[in-house]
Amino acid sequence: RKILATELPDAQVIVVSNREPYIHNLKEDEVELVVPASGLVSALEPITRACAGTWVAYGGGSADHLTVDENDRVAVPPDDPSYMLRRVWLSDEEHAGYYLGFANEGLWPLCHIAFTRPNFRAADWETYQSVNRKFANAVVAEARNERPIVLVQDYHFALLPRMLREQLPDAIIITFWHIPWPNSEVFSICPWRERILDGLLGSSIIGFHTQFHCNNFIESVDRFLETRIEREDAAISYQGRTSLVHAYPISIEWPPAQLGKVPAVQQCRDRVRTRLGLAEGVKLCVGVERLDYTKGIVDRFRALDELFNRHPEWIGKVTVLQIAAPSRGTLPDYERLHRECERCAEEINQRYGYEGYTPVLFIAEHHTQRQVYEIYRAADVCMVTSLHDGMNLVAKEFVAARDDEQGVLILSMFAGASKELLEALIVNPFDAATMGEALQHALAMSSDEQRDRMRRMREIVRDNNVYRWAGSMLLDAARLRKRAEVELPG
Ligand code: F6P
Repeated sequence: RKILATELPDAQVIVVSNREPYIHNLKEDEVELVVPASGLVSALEPITRACAGTWVAYGGGSADHLTVDENDRVAVPPDDPSYMLRRVWLSDEEHAGYYLGFANEGLWPLCHIAFTRPNFRAADWETYQSVNRKFANAVVAEARNERPIVLVQDYHFALLPRMLREQLPDAIIITFWHIPWPNSEVFSICPWRERILDGLLGSSIIGFHTQFHCNNFIESVDRFLETRIEREDAAISYQGRTSLVHAYPISIEWPPAQLGKVPAVQQCRDRVRTRLGLAEGVKLCVGVERLDYTKGIVDRFRALDELFNRHPEWIGKVTVLQIAAPSRGTLPDYERLHRECERCAEEINQRYGYEGYTPVLFIAEHHTQRQVYEIYRAADVCMVTSLHDGMNLVAKEFVAARDDEQGVLILSMFAGASKELLEALIVNPFDAATMGEALQHALAMSSDEQRDRMRRMREIVRDNNVYRWAGSMLLDAARLRKRAEVELPG
């Protein structure tokens, strides 16, 4: 807020993402409020609240229509209205082509090294373009003047920055790509690669979680477009405009608002353990994510199998609780994953379980943020074993939830968070044997070692919180605007 007031006075902040921060659903004739499982939402929500901005998103809830005014707006959060959520409506065909098709069967597997073949279909591409146009029109309708700051979120909107630039030439457009960017060879698979790059270069700033992904993006631009690239400044000049490409590692608010709402660690432990029926002395390992093939859920179960193989003394003494919020469930790869997780959990339970002891508890259901924080606080070990992930905010949330400075984080070397949380036990999720050993290390770790590691990780998440993430992008944007004003006086 301070940066906005001093560096960009009077600028209106508009966030645009596919996923909305609050979903209204109809449940037995009652309107139910759901906060979706999304790292993007948990990161951007406190920022939008702090600057009383406007958030433009797809209204996908069954009661979303019932809660908006005549301009499709609703003030949120419902219990403490701080900003406006403007909903964009999509038909079933638009949702299928733009979201399920192009974004999630095309760009998602393209950008993640998870060995799922990307599917690019011309019809999905058409819908992706028209839905990006629809969102561009909604953002322009929300802009109070010609110089708003628009924060475009993610791979659903690669074309939006260019469309906005055409209608709002003086806007600051900051696009943040929440997922990895592949190398130029992989990126070349996309039949509309030049159009995607051209769309993104409508932005003033393009942000990624890591320098590695920035480099991949710059290489892709260099290979497929005619541009001038100043590598030192990471600036790309294209069609008379300059875009900066920088790494801004995303984070969470500190301290997280949820922490004030959950009971003490011991109470969380008692509640969660009683609910799960865990016997005295059984250690609890948790995994928390959307049910997605990039998250390495089955690999995590295999690590437990490996632990039991190598260290049978742990049989009966450890349970893995995996909660997985269903998303994109109608896509075949996601349905397959759901079945595979169930099958693998069942196999392990049959092999090692017995009356009163279940090694793997797999719960594919949405959990509220409060329930998730209770689980973090009850855990002995948190396993984040993504096969590939932009950042992964579960790792940071777990650390933030542990004000008792206990608990061990096992973290994939392929999650952006592993570049910051060096005191986690860093693993290669493709290597089941080493993962099994990491589990053994985590389960046997002394309380002192846990404290030392957790303390350091908490300092890092505290210092590099989401306000710093947004602040550094806004500062860079302010510098760009000043530079443009000097170059083009009047
Ligand atoms: O950042 C990854 C991301 O795809 C976000 O765009 C999204 O909000 C989140 O994961 C959840 O995915 P979905 O909205 O498709 O359920």
